[in-house]
Amino acid sequence: MIEQALKMLSEGQIIGMPTESVYGLAADATNDTAVARIYAVKKRPSINPLIIHVDSIEMARQWGVFTELAEMLAKEFWYKTPSSLTLIVKRNNAALSHLVTAGLDTVAIRMPMHAIALDLINKFGKPLSAPSANKSNSISPTSAEAVAIELGELIPLIIDGGPCRVGVESTILDVSENDPILLRPGGTTLEAIEKVLGITVKTYTENTPTSNTKSFKAPGMMKRHYAPSIPLRLNAKMALPGEAYLTFGTENQRQNETLNLSESGDLVEATANLFRMIRLLDCSSYNGIAVAPIPNFGLGLAINDRLSRASAE
Ligand code: TXA
Ligand code: MG
Repeated sequence: MIEQALKMLSEGQIIGMPTESVYGLAADATNDTAVARIYAVKKRPSINPLIIHVDSIEMARQWGVFTELAEMLAKEFWYKTPSSLTLIVKRNNAALSHLVTAGLDTVAIRMPMHAIALDLINKFGKPLSAPSANKSNSISPTSAEAVAIELGELIPLIIDGGPCRVGVESTILDVSENDPILLRPGGTTLEAIEKVLGITVKTYTENTPTSNTKSFKAPGMMKRHYAPSIPLRLNAKMALPGEAYLTFGTENQRQNETLNLSESGDLVEATANLFRMIRLLDCSSYNGIAVAPIPNFGLGLAINDRLSRASAE
């Protein structure tokens, strides 16, 4: 399977790749044609840059400028389980497709924590650009089956690496300028990052001042994203007729609960279940999904971010 994948990648084809966060749609990040295929298959606007996946800090340094701050974060979070952190740094290698970075002077880099992905990248010897393996704006897949449903007919190979351990996309932290800025909450908690850095990290908003490329700071942070086909209603104390009720913990009324993200109120478990359960409910006969309140700290920040985008008009 890996041999076949390597051959396809070197021919400029795109394949489904497991990572610990969500499944990715991988291509040779130095091949413009292959990268263009990603945008086409996903129907993704080409102003929205992609993350490149590396097998080590050593490979990362060949494609982006690793400041002391970036080094520290990579060492801490890329090699510890389970954690998913993408670092935005200045690009430094002309061989990297400019389609990957959508014309920006920065590049998003992460090292996935999945044995198959690491083996693939290591043997390929170059970074793989990979967005989540779903159509633009829909829910990220957390299993090979979900990738097959999303894109199966459009790609030649999906490597099955089992269900994703983390279940939500990586945290994106911009360290390309002096002050780190959180662009997207995700698989590595803000609290953990702040603990390592010993500072409070700002979260990006439209008003965040930056020295350059202001309007492109977070090109992919559309308000509506990660959306199921039926409406999602947040902070729901109960389900309305016809709605599924997705709960968390046991505090909320268990009566008329359809699925529980984590009965024990564990945010790690809830994150791993989130996209799978929303997909399940989306495919059922409900006319909407009511979601119980989720605590807004730790991984709950990522869960609430995805839920609020999924429910946006
Ligand atoms: O966990 C993940 O991050 C997954 C797995 C497959 O690695 N990937 C993923 O990729 O979620 P995608 O394409 O769905 O989201 C990448 C986000 C987009 O919002 C994009 O705008 C942002 O990263 N991004 C990429 N390069 C950037 C850059 N240079 N500056 C700012 N944002 C960037
Ligand atoms: Mg995505």
